[in-house]
Amino acid sequence: MKLVKHIANLGYGSRKQVQMMFREGRITDADGEVLYADDKVEPQVIRIDGEPLDPPPGLTLMLHKPAGFTCSTKDVGRLIYDLLPPRFRDRSPVLSSVGRLDRDTSGLLLLTDDGALLHRIVSPKSALDKVYEAELAQDLRGDEAATFASGTLMLESEDKPLLPAELEVLGPRRARLVLHEGRYHQVRRMFAAVGNHVQALHRSRIGGLELGALEPGQWRMLDAGDLERLFGQRG
Ligand code: URA
Repeated sequence: MKLVKHIANLGYGSRKQVQMMFREGRITDADGEVLYADDKVEPQVIRIDGEPLDPPPGLTLMLHKPAGFTCSTKDVGRLIYDLLPPRFRDRSPVLSSVGRLDRDTSGLLLLTDDGALLHRIVSPKSALDKVYEAELAQDLRGDEAATFASGTLMLESEDKPLLPAELEVLGPRRARLVLHEGRYHQVRRMFAAVGNHVQALHRSRIGGLELGALEPGQWRMLDAGDLERLFGQRG
């Protein structure tokens, strides 16, 4: 691919703007030699204003989404993309979140520009666990684990019962829930179905991949080992 197109696709600007960056001598190799738009070089050697280029397509990252941020590229209020380098929302192929977390949910969110990978993660065939910790408005009654594990719980306006899910009680108003599917507002609707209300919700794991030490708002790129962990789910 031509350098101008490659750099524009990484979100550095329109092709016209990138051509201008070449003319201004802002694009160099690793030794500071000015590059020209029709040079043939590997993207790894390119520097823009002395900085290495952002990663090429195939970018997958995990974000510790704080509560209060919306999973969208354009919406009112604070967006998950505000937590990433600004260019990331202008990349082509587009960097999308893998599913969504509600605005008020915190925790592990994956983003990728690899469409095949995204489909594999969300596919029911992969059946990746999603682990949530919920804080509740009311004390647990004691029958929730059996209801959630039954495989018969129907959510309002759905025509198929939920798959069995595992509930672990962490306190009178705290619980961990392991889901094997992803339906709209699923955790909130499940607790509503048993007469409770989720006050705070956090996702700590998808498949075998944990949020780990990432602080709210922090993100990191995933490597091949992370993807192996993601699909090599633990029980
Ligand atoms: N279930 C919910 O209700 N909300 C989320 O954000 C994720 C799962």
